[in-house]
Amino acid sequence: METISVGLIGTGFMGKCHALAWNAVRPVFGDCAAIRLAKLADVDARLAAEKADAFGFQASTTNWRDLLDDPQIDVVSVTAPNAFHPEMAIEALKAGKHVWCEKPMAPRFEDALRMRQAARESGHVAALGYNYIQNPMVRQIGRLLSENAIGEVNHVRIEMDEDFMADPAALFYWKSEASSGYGALDDFAVHPLSLIWTLLGRIRSVMADMAMPYAERPLAGGGTRAVETCDIASVLFRLESGASGILAANRSAWGRKGRIAVQIFGSAGSIVFDQERMNELQVYRAGGQPADAGYTTMLAGPAHEPYGQFVPAPGHSLGFNDLKVIECRELLSAIAGKPSRLIDFEKGVEIECAVHAMAESFRKRAWVDVAYG
Ligand SMILES: NC(=O)c1ccc[n+]([C@@H]2O[C@H](COP(=O)([O-])OP(=O)(O)OC[C@H]3O[C@@H](n4cnc5c(N)ncnc54)[C@H](O)[C@@H]3O)[C@@H](O)[C@H]2O)c1
Repeated sequence: METISVGLIGTGFMGKCHALAWNAVRPVFGDCAAIRLAKLADVDARLAAEKADAFGFQASTTNWRDLLDDPQIDVVSVTAPNAFHPEMAIEALKAGKHVWCEKPMAPRFEDALRMRQAARESGHVAALGYNYIQNPMVRQIGRLLSENAIGEVNHVRIEMDEDFMADPAALFYWKSEASSGYGALDDFAVHPLSLIWTLLGRIRSVMADMAMPYAERPLAGGGTRAVETCDIASVLFRLESGASGILAANRSAWGRKGRIAVQIFGSAGSIVFDQERMNELQVYRAGGQPADAGYTTMLAGPAHEPYGQFVPAPGHSLGFNDLKVIECRELLSAIAGKPSRLIDFEKGVEIECAVHAMAESFRKRAWVDVAYG
């Protein structure tokens, strides 16, 4: 396909991120289809018109279904709040579109299963917005693991923390509603799970705790509303490989801005990475160096594909939005029938299996085996 026509639903944080990616993917990578930004949808008419103009879309609408009725549109980006993902993704697939849907897949497990079924029946590409797996330094971790650089992995710790909900005076909004899911599990933990799935394989069993630091939040128009989601989650887990792990997610963590701190320990060394310093990672290799030697730092550069597509000089740093450009390139590869590095709806359901097993563990106060099916 020489030209891919795009429809975008939503114009918030992720709507803009997808729009930037669609605009940048061809200039950055060069070897993919031409992109036509066809139509953008947002429930807010003023936002829809303003953002269509700013992002470079040819038309706008307040009704996302208009995108599905447009036979010219090949792929739909779904960046509306979580509760809309199932209906929008399923309807888009049924209308014959490829789908690029933001995480989490769906707040309710039955809906995630329906999404996977729709993807299977359509035969179209159905990908999820797990952008952190696209970081060239995360790919480098994968390379180090496959080269056995730290021996056999026996323990992993991942913490994802931000502070956008740390202030008790922060307003109640859709992320505090039960319709968005459990809270930190759907909003945050799914990202570390995407890294675990990509680097280390599936989780076998979990033991989880969830916490709600503030029972109510103020409403924009005055008064307060009871919070329905847990901003904090702590999970012990076992991988199918036998390695043990700890996952912590907190979106009320004062001082933390975009932390996804990964520590992977093996029989011959360890690897340390943090998304807040996404252009570097540390490796410790046991043996062959003095016992008191510390970590070696690797800095991102053209040696770490596809960094060099963005900038030819090492150490000049990629940013968060660049991860979405790489994800967009992977999506286009999948649409073209080439191998791609994506979390599709098949793997997405596995991640949802782990999330719902965590919630079940919290309810039962017990270890739960993750049931895949
Ligand atoms: N991959 C990531 O790193 C990442 C980061 C942030 C958010 N997200 C995900 O992206 C999604 C959106 O989050 P956000 O932070 O961009 O939210 P946001 O509140 O900033 O934006 C949501 C947008 O959707 C629009 N919208 C709401 N209902 C709609 C409807 N029925 N039809 C059309 N438009 C509608 C809103 O007007 C708004 O423009 C969520 O699912 C979230 O989990 C992913």
